[in-house]
Amino acid sequence: MDTVNIGLLGLGTVGGGTLQLLKRHADAIERRTGRRVQVRRALVRDLAKPRPAEAADVAVTTDPDEILDDPAIHIVVELVGGCEPTRAWVLRAIAAGKHVITANKALIAQHGNEIFAAADQHGVIVAFEAAVGGGIPIIKAIREALAGNRIESVAGIVNGTTNYILTEMRDRGLGFSEALAQAQALGYAEADPSFDIDGIDAAHKLAILAAIAFGTPLAFAGVATEGIGAISAEDIGYAEALGYSIKHLAIARRDEEAVELRVHPTLIPQRQLLARVDGVMNAILVHGDAVGETLFYGAGAGALPTASAVVADLVDVLRLLSADPDHRVPYLGVRPGAIADLPLRPLEAIHSAYYLRLSVEDHPGVMADITRILADHEISIEAMLQRPDPTRPDTMPIILLTHRAWERAMNQALDAMSRLASVRGPITRIRVQTNGTW
Ligand code: NAP
Ligand code: HSE
Repeated sequence: MDTVNIGLLGLGTVGGGTLQLLKRHADAIERRTGRRVQVRRALVRDLAKPRPAEAADVAVTTDPDEILDDPAIHIVVELVGGCEPTRAWVLRAIAAGKHVITANKALIAQHGNEIFAAADQHGVIVAFEAAVGGGIPIIKAIREALAGNRIESVAGIVNGTTNYILTEMRDRGLGFSEALAQAQALGYAEADPSFDIDGIDAAHKLAILAAIAFGTPLAFAGVATEGIGAISAEDIGYAEALGYSIKHLAIARRDEEAVELRVHPTLIPQRQLLARVDGVMNAILVHGDAVGETLFYGAGAGALPTASAVVADLVDVLRLLSADPDHRVPYLGVRPGAIADLPLRPLEAIHSAYYLRLSVEDHPGVMADITRILADHEISIEAMLQRPDPTRPDTMPIILLTHRAWERAMNQALDAMSRLASVRGPITRIRVQTNGTW
């Protein structure tokens, strides 16, 4: 089999980029694998949409059966997104003996266990490097290059859209909606951008990273998830004034007792490298017991960076076509029978420093009430900022940075503070990275 036929499911941002790279690097791919690749057919939803020039000689269809039932197609590349009907299509492709490459983190995070079991049963490969970190080869790095380590933590910026929005709000003073519209126009956002904004996309990616790093089952439902919807331009400004940047982080840590999986905005000291990862860029810190800290940085979304990962997976599959399935790298880094569960630590049980922003009535005794509540919950204050807002003369914004405290105690303190008559509106709480601890 010197020419390998591919069926593309999806010809949008990533599908178009993939087609472009396959044309641009056809000779290089042949030199690397000894095979010629031909895109035999591509699935779309709307035949009338304009397609990239590279698609001119590709047969386009709206019927998935023309790809899934075509015995001449050896590899299916799924770049549609969402869990259905993609789950059904991928399982059909596997059952038909086709290898599958996907960039779909929702599908892998939520249905990976079923898909991997089906792939093992049918002796085919499922590759998903593009599902996490766009063009950063983070899955290969953790699963293969860091296999000599016990991975202790994986933490970083894994969603390009939210990082782009936070950066544009800070650097160019854009409003949230305007920054989101730009991210969508650039092809970074999910079809439903609430997946980006609410942290669901980052949680999908974290579930995949944690499973591979720790050899545990995919546990998307166990990821504590907060998005960036509550972060205002004011918070970004106050954080800057205090020497921090606000980043949306995905954090997976383990100790002897439990695994911690959480996605939320975090204040990071400006001297830290992660604080300077801006725009669509992603960066992932992996801590291994032998190697120490490693940092992986690159474009986290966009047509060509993501296609770079898809094509790398394709090269892997082409190289492995004639290899014994037993010689393949296991999907989650450990052999299926060796996946070990660890209890999940609830968010309430984490120990973190906090940024709090309250809007209070400006009269004597208000600060005393707030500090008393914090003291009652054994939370000590590290820094305070009080800046009158001329547009709101009846209230005073107070910004507090606390030392590390238990999340459960902070929840109780926030509850008590929000019941004070002098506190107006909701209290913003953002976790803070201190002394290298998340
Ligand atoms: P996209 O631009 O919206 O493209 C989706 C493609 O799938 C389009 O060609 C669309 O057809 C087709 N499609 C959607 N629903 C269909 C249906 N029911 N039947 C047939 N065709 C259908 O999406 P994308 O940004 O390329 O993302 C694709 C996947 O890659 C997603 O899983 C996403 O999470 C993942 N991903 C994206 C990025 C990124 O930067 N965009 C990065 C990493 C991973 P039409 O063209 O006719 O509408
Ligand atoms: N919507 C995703 C992001 C695409 O912005 O990171 C890349 O996975």
